[in-house]
Amino acid sequence: MKILAPSILAADFSDLSGEVAKIERAGAQLLHFDVMDGHFVPNISFGPAVMRSLSGRTGLPFDVHLMVEGADRYIPEFAVEDTAFISVHCEACPHLHRTLELIRSKGANPGVALNPATPLCAIDEAMGHVGLVLVMSVDPGFGGQAFIPGSLDRIRRLARMRQERGLSFLIEVDGGVTLENAPDIAEAGADIFVAGSSVFKAADPAEWARGFFAAVGQ
Ligand code: DX5
Ligand code: ZN
Repeated sequence: MKILAPSILAADFSDLSGEVAKIERAGAQLLHFDVMDGHFVPNISFGPAVMRSLSGRTGLPFDVHLMVEGADRYIPEFAVEDTAFISVHCEACPHLHRTLELIRSKGANPGVALNPATPLCAIDEAMGHVGLVLVMSVDPGFGGQAFIPGSLDRIRRLARMRQERGLSFLIEVDGGVTLENAPDIAEAGADIFVAGSSVFKAADPAEWARGFFAAVGQ
């Protein structure tokens, strides 16, 4: 099953609940929150208060992507009832195992994210402790960037590692997803597709979503 997770970073913040309702009607299955602190990434987006403002207002589970330093102190605030996944960057977590267990203890499924130049072996010991591996296909910090083509091979290799080790984490691709590259990404083995600008900037997000699901064969 392929999952569409629109990133609200690309939404019209002046009408967040309306934007979320649009993509929910369009068939999205997750809502991706790109949390940025201006330290781990050169941009600041929003904090838990924005996410909480949507809690209980949508049927979409929350997929939280923490692009922050010192993630441990924020995890409890993002672990609300609607939160399905909380992903942290392996590059920003010196005590990654402890952080993943903290996420789990707060009732969310832990995920680990990798920047485009971080080798897959960086999560060799962690991939057995996560429900999600987030493969960044752009450099984190901003929406609207171009998909890094080498990401396809990374997704293929990760999917092979998952199979060889008998693991069942989901593979999430994050950044620069379009209707044009979605089929190749699906073929490579991705399960969850984060899309920001392509879906929220589309003239008709519902039509875009229909095109997406057709493109990935669902
Ligand atoms: C970038 C974020 C991505 C990004 C996706 O740091 O993690 O989720 O917002 O947006 P698009 O689809 O516009 O690349
Ligand atoms: Zn993201």
